[in-house]
Amino acid sequence: MPSRPDFPTTHPSRRQLLGWAGLGAGGLFLPRNALSSASPMLPAGSRQTPPPLEIALDAVVERRQFRPGPLTEVWRYQARLISGPPEGLGWTAGPLPAPVLRLRPGQTLKVHFSNHLPEASSIHWHGLAVPESMDGHPKDVVPSGGGRVYEFPILAEPATYWFHPHPHMRTAFQVAHGLAGFLLVVDPTLEADLPSGDRDLPLLIQDRSLNAANVNAYAQQMMGFLGDEVTVNGLAGDSMDVEQDAYRLRLLNGSVTRTYKLAWSDGRSLRAVATDAGLLPTPLDRPYLMLAPGERRDVVVDFSDLPAGAELTLRSLDWDSGGTGGMGMGRPSLIPEGSPFTVARFRAHGEGSRTRIFLPAAVRGAALEGNRPAPRAASRHAEPINATAVTPDRRVVLDHQGMMQWTLNGRSFEMEAVAPDEVVRLGTDAIWEWDNSVSTMMMIPHALHIHLVRFKVLERLIAPRQAAAYATVRDGLLDEGWKDTVLVMPGERVRVGMRFESYAGLFLYHCHMLDHEDMGMMRNFRVEGT
Ligand code: C2O
Ligand code: CU
Ligand code: CU
Repeated sequence: MPSRPDFPTTHPSRRQLLGWAGLGAGGLFLPRNALSSASPMLPAGSRQTPPPLEIALDAVVERRQFRPGPLTEVWRYQARLISGPPEGLGWTAGPLPAPVLRLRPGQTLKVHFSNHLPEASSIHWHGLAVPESMDGHPKDVVPSGGGRVYEFPILAEPATYWFHPHPHMRTAFQVAHGLAGFLLVVDPTLEADLPSGDRDLPLLIQDRSLNAANVNAYAQQMMGFLGDEVTVNGLAGDSMDVEQDAYRLRLLNGSVTRTYKLAWSDGRSLRAVATDAGLLPTPLDRPYLMLAPGERRDVVVDFSDLPAGAELTLRSLDWDSGGTGGMGMGRPSLIPEGSPFTVARFRAHGEGSRTRIFLPAAVRGAALEGNRPAPRAASRHAEPINATAVTPDRRVVLDHQGMMQWTLNGRSFEMEAVAPDEVVRLGTDAIWEWDNSVSTMMMIPHALHIHLVRFKVLERLIAPRQAAAYATVRDGLLDEGWKDTVLVMPGERVRVGMRFESYAGLFLYHCHMLDHEDMGMMRNFRVEGT
């Protein structure tokens, strides 16, 4: 382990550590027995769990008109409600509608999946703790023409989750062609202060390339595919009509590779109310927010001060990816990584009421914490953590081998293999370090995701050589709150703390830049215990 002076801490880690310790002591963690039973402990206001949501979900090939000229082939999910609350199934607005499942904590989801694609696929429930057989692992793919049932209880806090395919070496292709859906875990009581109904917009942000014949031109690249245009729910460039009112925007980066540096065009801050895997205790304002592939941020925005017909634009600002190596590899994008561009335009519509100025006081984090069961006594993190002693239990080096393979600790993905250092015990805590400071040939950003568990970012250390590039992203990292995917910049080491508390079994961790994942930057870990 390099000594601390080589890697000055560049983030307010002390505050985060105290937050981590406080959450442990306050019992934000669910005890194992609550999770393994069919009826997890639920926050106040959610004691009545709705009946199971049962849907039919088909992966299909369709054609859509994105541009004048030929139709574009897309792969997408079709969905139909079989039983359960009617509000349990909705759709994103836009030319490429994606299913939006809405579930309450503790509710059961039952999905009858049919694969009408010309190849194998699976569904992974990103951010949710589900049994191994339900997790969409590449070993559990559904062949073309086949089907299966996914069924599990929702063991997650209110936040924006999503689902997508996870087949071996084909995840990027399938996602790039449109296969993605939202899974919103909602609790109307806890979220009473937030805009809801048609003021709650799931926005899937993806870049794509269409060639002159309007064919999706996604192609795998070592550095990662970058599209030529940015879409929101399939929409490129056009503005979306909104009322002069407050909105909750659920921002999901479903891009293959691209990371966004999101900011409002008029300079107002982005107000985050939730991250990947949970509500923030209080809204947090940032001048901009980084959004790496797989990450989610829920933000609130008040359009009531926008004159009718005026637009507010969500931009991606300039940033320096700080990468070394790999320059000139692959097909260049019209919008290179780190260059500025427009993501979405919101146009204020009509004479909406100006009465409801939205100022969320808090997202009732206190209520959330207060109703959690007590932490398990043996927890290492039940005691406050000394800010100078975040010693990782495990270090995972992000690197590559040759020009076709990405690696984690020198290993690429193997379908069933688990190395000794990839075994953890059920009911234990661990601090893992993602180390992106070692590679000598190609050091580029990665987005590390782990299945089954959520984590807290405990500490970030940046090598002095990359500090200048890092300064262009650091204020938008937003490490507060629960996460399941984290951006790891070149020269950076990120330490995350997690608890293996729900299920035993074989699960994945990987880079969520999907070309990197398909090109080996993925491994299994096994949770042992009962
Ligand atoms: Cu959204 Cu294994 O990932
Ligand atoms: Cu996942
Ligand atoms: Cu990567």
